[in-house]
Amino acid sequence: MTKQTIQETLKPIVALAKRRGFIYPGSEIYGGFANTYSFGPYGAELKKNIKDLWWRNFVRERRDMVGLDGPILLHPKAWKASGHLDGFNDAMIDCKACKSRFRCDHLIEDELRQSADGLTLQEMTHLVHSNKVKCPKCGAQDFTEARNFNLMFSTHMSKTGSEGDLAYLRPETAQAIFLDFKNIIDTMRVRVPFGVGQIGKAFRNEITPGNFVFRVIEFEQMEIEYFIRESAWEQTFEDWLSAMHRWCDLIGLKKAHVHEKEHPKEQLSHYSKRTVDLVYDFPFGTSELYGLAYRTDFDLKRHAEFSASNLEYTDPETREKFIPHVIEPTFGVERTVLALLCDAYEEEKLPNGEMRTVLHFKPSIAPVKVAVFPLMKKEPLAEKAEGIFRMLQKHWACEYDESGAIGKRYRRQDELGTPFCLTIDFETLENGTVTLRDRDSMQQERISIHQIIPIVTHKLGSL
Ligand code: GAP
Repeated sequence: MTKQTIQETLKPIVALAKRRGFIYPGSEIYGGFANTYSFGPYGAELKKNIKDLWWRNFVRERRDMVGLDGPILLHPKAWKASGHLDGFNDAMIDCKACKSRFRCDHLIEDELRQSADGLTLQEMTHLVHSNKVKCPKCGAQDFTEARNFNLMFSTHMSKTGSEGDLAYLRPETAQAIFLDFKNIIDTMRVRVPFGVGQIGKAFRNEITPGNFVFRVIEFEQMEIEYFIRESAWEQTFEDWLSAMHRWCDLIGLKKAHVHEKEHPKEQLSHYSKRTVDLVYDFPFGTSELYGLAYRTDFDLKRHAEFSASNLEYTDPETREKFIPHVIEPTFGVERTVLALLCDAYEEEKLPNGEMRTVLHFKPSIAPVKVAVFPLMKKEPLAEKAEGIFRMLQKHWACEYDESGAIGKRYRRQDELGTPFCLTIDFETLENGTVTLRDRDSMQQERISIHQIIPIVTHKLGSL
C-alpha cells in the first residue's frame, strides 16, 4: 500500500477524531509538529478508561502484582547498561538533493515492495542505490549511505550544556522497573513469581510520519516486568500470551482482528530470547499492537554489573540466591486507542436510507456512558433534566445537551460512542418516566426515573 492509500484508509477515523474532540494534531496553531498529537476531552476520557481498566485488571486484582510510578529521567548509565545507548537505532538514509531523511527499511518496503528485515546497513544501501530508488519527496535518485540513528531523545540536566550533562528521556518504561527491583523486594512482601506494572510516558525520536497515532514520538506504555525462575519461562510466557488475548476481549476488540506474530530469531531485540507480537488488522495493514518478550536475566544482570549493586533475590524458604528471569508483556496506550477507534467505527445505512456514523465502544471504555437531553431548553423541562443529570453524574461520566433537534443530538452521541441517551419530555413531568435510547439498536423504552440507575447499571455491566 502506498503512503497515499495509507492516509486514505484512516481518513474517516482521523476526521471523526478531530471533529468530535478525541484527537487533535499537535501544535496545530503553529502549523503542526510532526508525529505529535493532543488528546482532546473525549480522547482523554477514553485513554483514562483504558489505563484504569488495565491497572485494575493487571495490578489491583492480582495478588502477584504490584504497581510502580518511576521517573522518566534515569541515571544516564542505566541506558548504557540496558543497551539502548549503543543498540537502540533505526537505519536512516538521506536524500542528498532535498535533505529529507527516511527510515531505510520503510523506504525499501514502500518503494521496492520487499522486506528489509534483517538486512545490514551495507545491504540496505546497496538495494537503494542499485535499484535507483526515487526520493518520495523530490524524485531525485541520489541517496547517502544508510546510517544508524539513535532513537533516544537527549536533554541536559544542568546549565552548562556540556556532553557530561546529557540525560535521556526514557524510550521504554521498563527500565525504571529494573532500577527499582531492589527497593521492591526490600520493601514489599513479594515472592518470585511476581510482577511490577507501570503506566507512563516513553519517548522515541521516530522520524517516519503518518499512520496517525500509530507511531508517535511521545506515547504511553502500560508495561509489566514479571520476575520468575528461569525454569518457568515457557509456561509463564504462554500464560501471559493468554492474559493479553483476554485483555483484548475485555476492551472489546474483535477477536478476528487480533493475531499473533512470532519474531524470527535473527530479528529479536538485543535483550530478548523470544518475542511474540499481538498484531491488529489496522485499515493500513496488519501491524504491531502489543508485544510479549522473554527478556531473560539480561537487564537485572547488566544493571547489577554497571551499578555494582546486588540485585539477587533470596528465596525465603531455601535461602537460594538468584537473579530472576523476566517475561515482559507491553501495551501501547495510543495504539490501543487507535485499534479501538478502528474496531468501533461504523458508517451504517439506516432503514430510512439515511447514514449514521457510530462508534460501537464497549460501555466500559466509552468516554461518556449516558447523555441527558431535555426535549426543549425551556423550563420546567430543563430543570427536571438538570436534576437527573446531577444524580447520574455521581455514578458515571455523563453529558448534558440541550441544543438542537433530538435526532441531531442522538447522532452526536453516536459519534462519541455513548451507549445510552435519556430524554426528558412533557410526559416526564406528568408521570415521572423518561425515554432510554440504546446506541446500537436505536430502540427506545420508557422507564421511570427511579429505575434509571438500576437499569443502566445492569445494562453497562452486562455488555
Ligand atoms: N519494553 C519493551 C518495549 O518498549 P516495544 O515493542 O518497542 O517494546 C512496546 O514497545 C509497545 O509500545 C508497542 O507494542 C506499541 O504498542 C507501543 N509503541 C512503541 N513505539 C511506539 C510509538 N512510536 N508510538 C506509539 N506507540 C508505540
